[in-house]
Amino acid sequence: MSVEKFSIANDGIDPAKVPQKTLNTGDKMPAIGLGTFGSDRFSGEQIAEAVKGAVAIGFRHIDCASVYGNEHLIGQSFKEILDSGLIKREELWITSKVWNDMHGEGDVLLSCAKSLKDLKLDYLDLFLVHWPFPNFHAKGVDVSSRDPNAKPYIHEEYMKVWRQMEKLKEMGLVRNIGTSNMTIPKMKLLLKDAKIKPACNEMELHPHFQQPEFFKYVVDNGIVPIGFCPIGSPTRPDRDKIETDTVDIQDPVILKIAKRLNVHPAVVCVKWAVQRGQVPIPFSIHRNEYLSNITSTISDPITKEEMKEIEGIDKNCRLIKGQVFLWKDNQSWEDLWDLNGQITPA
Ligand SMILES: NC(=O)c1ccc[n+]([C@@H]2O[C@H](COP(=O)([O-])OP(=O)(O)OC[C@H]3O[C@@H](n4cnc5c(N)ncnc54)[C@H](OP(=O)(O)O)[C@@H]3O)[C@@H](O)[C@H]2O)c1
Repeated sequence: MSVEKFSIANDGIDPAKVPQKTLNTGDKMPAIGLGTFGSDRFSGEQIAEAVKGAVAIGFRHIDCASVYGNEHLIGQSFKEILDSGLIKREELWITSKVWNDMHGEGDVLLSCAKSLKDLKLDYLDLFLVHWPFPNFHAKGVDVSSRDPNAKPYIHEEYMKVWRQMEKLKEMGLVRNIGTSNMTIPKMKLLLKDAKIKPACNEMELHPHFQQPEFFKYVVDNGIVPIGFCPIGSPTRPDRDKIETDTVDIQDPVILKIAKRLNVHPAVVCVKWAVQRGQVPIPFSIHRNEYLSNITSTISDPITKEEMKEIEGIDKNCRLIKGQVFLWKDNQSWEDLWDLNGQITPA
């Protein structure tokens, strides 16, 4: 970790110019965030350094999670940023997530308390249920690995988690609560039973995986979609890659627009996401990359025709399939995603 004092860069973007999304709670969230999952390739120290670098150039939204194993290091970055006096806590938007092994009674509160302690904060802007299953797997396991105690989605169990999320909001420890890796049938049940509705839903969204139906459902229900893997996660762990996966940043339409704009194809994916209305959270530890990602939110828009062209390249290619969360042998990953509109039974 560098000992350099935090300072605002003079070649960054004015955060006041970055678009914002208004949530159903009235809170305003920057329309782009920095991802912090190192994909087993980047160290926690590198990511903590990138958090400082990204805030220095104008990022105000950071997407964290306890399972990424780096919140204690990112917390040190937040402390340096806030101790500098140059940025106030309320100017930052900090998200964290409860991991699958902390769904039990009281555990969600403990998980939040641990994230707050590690991140050196006294509240989170957004706290998400990372996956709607309590299924746990050891770090770095192969996709064929199964948790012997794994369960399918059980709504009553999920609601016990959600009640704890609601409690955290009532206690003021988190300002907003939300979901991740959901489906329409699961979301329908939650919206029926929630006292406090989710403000955001974090979901996989990139040009080759646009989830048009779920995206519309989320937006129509006043929930802000946060898009993970916005660039198609080219650096995701090898264990998450399969032969039929397609590559967004090699798509001819993306390449053509990148050429016109004179930017990397990754930047087109980020720019498209913001224009479409989701909040992308691109990951990068490289300054030139995160600077060009945020710059794309304030530069001239992609044309209507180009937006239409990108709409046409959806390949329904889910990259984060979640195989390790399956609960039986001989199941296919599609069972996690309720493809026929019904929650897959036990
Ligand atoms: N809720 C969930 O379950 C969930 C699941 C997955 C991810 N997430 C969140 O979403 C974040 C983003 O997803 P991700 O990290 O998987 O993938 P991603 O953001 O789609 O892709 C990240 C990779 O794209 C490249 N990149 C980024 N900006 C670039 C630019 N301007 N030019 C060229 N290349 C660029 C970088 O590769 P190089 O380093 O090679 O340059 C980087 O490692 C995660 O970090 C995490 O916070 C959440």
